Amino acid sequence: MLRGDKVGLRARHEDDIPILRAELYDDVVNSSRAEGGPWRPITPGSKDPRLVVDDKEQGSVQFSVVELDGGTLVGTAVLWGIDNHNRSAHIGLGLLPSSRGKGYGTDVVAVLCHYGFVVRGLQRLQIETLSDNFAMLRSAERNGFVREGVLRSSAWVMGEFLDEVLLGLLAQDWKPESKGWSAA
Ligand SMILES: CC(C)(COP(=O)(O)OP(=O)(O)OC[C@H]1O[C@@H](n2cnc3c(N)ncnc32)[C@H](O)[C@@H]1OP(=O)(O)O)[C@@H](O)C(=O)NCCC(=O)NCCS
Repeated sequence: MLRGDKVGLRARHEDDIPILRAELYDDVVNSSRAEGGPWRPITPGSKDPRLVVDDKEQGSVQFSVVELDGGTLVGTAVLWGIDNHNRSAHIGLGLLPSSRGKGYGTDVVAVLCHYGFVVRGLQRLQIETLSDNFAMLRSAERNGFVREGVLRSSAWVMGEFLDEVLLGLLAQDWKPESKGWSAA
């Protein structure tokens, strides 16, 4: 498991799947805002790749996010679009509604940076988020991501076009603040 200050990133467990489906992916508005595509229901037992992880898939790495104190599931995190030639990847995360606004998002971004830069040796990490997703923008900027551009009207979300912000962080600009990294 990868550890931050408050949360850990571990493998997806079978027990996580119904919770993530009910609390994250069945939420039409949250899914529409976070996923860059139209919401569709996920049939229980289906092998939807957002929930059921294919360990052989080399282009992305999915995690379940848990509280370090007690191990309660609080969300998902992903390193995706891994490009081993250009040494870049994108990061994404989604927390269960009851776990938002507690600093976990900022901590998840920090742990994903550690995984991307230290474990994977990447040079550049990127995030795309809606321009009104202040919690995501702040979680990224607190970890050193800088705004590189606005993709105007790039996302169709629940009846309207919204802008997305593209943020990037280079390995040499990353300043890990936590001293508590471990892979135990
Ligand atoms: C976006 C998300 C991951 C952020 O995680 P979080 O744990 O809620 O964020 P944090 O508690 O770490 O807060 C980060 C910062 O944003 C601020 N913030 C939190 N919620 C906010 C809100 N609704 N409006 C404005 N600022 C907010 C916090 O005050 C904090 O700022 P600070 O560091 O200056 O104190 C989480 O809210 C979430 O999962 N949202 C739904 C899914 C989603 O949008 N995923 C991202 C798709 S790109």
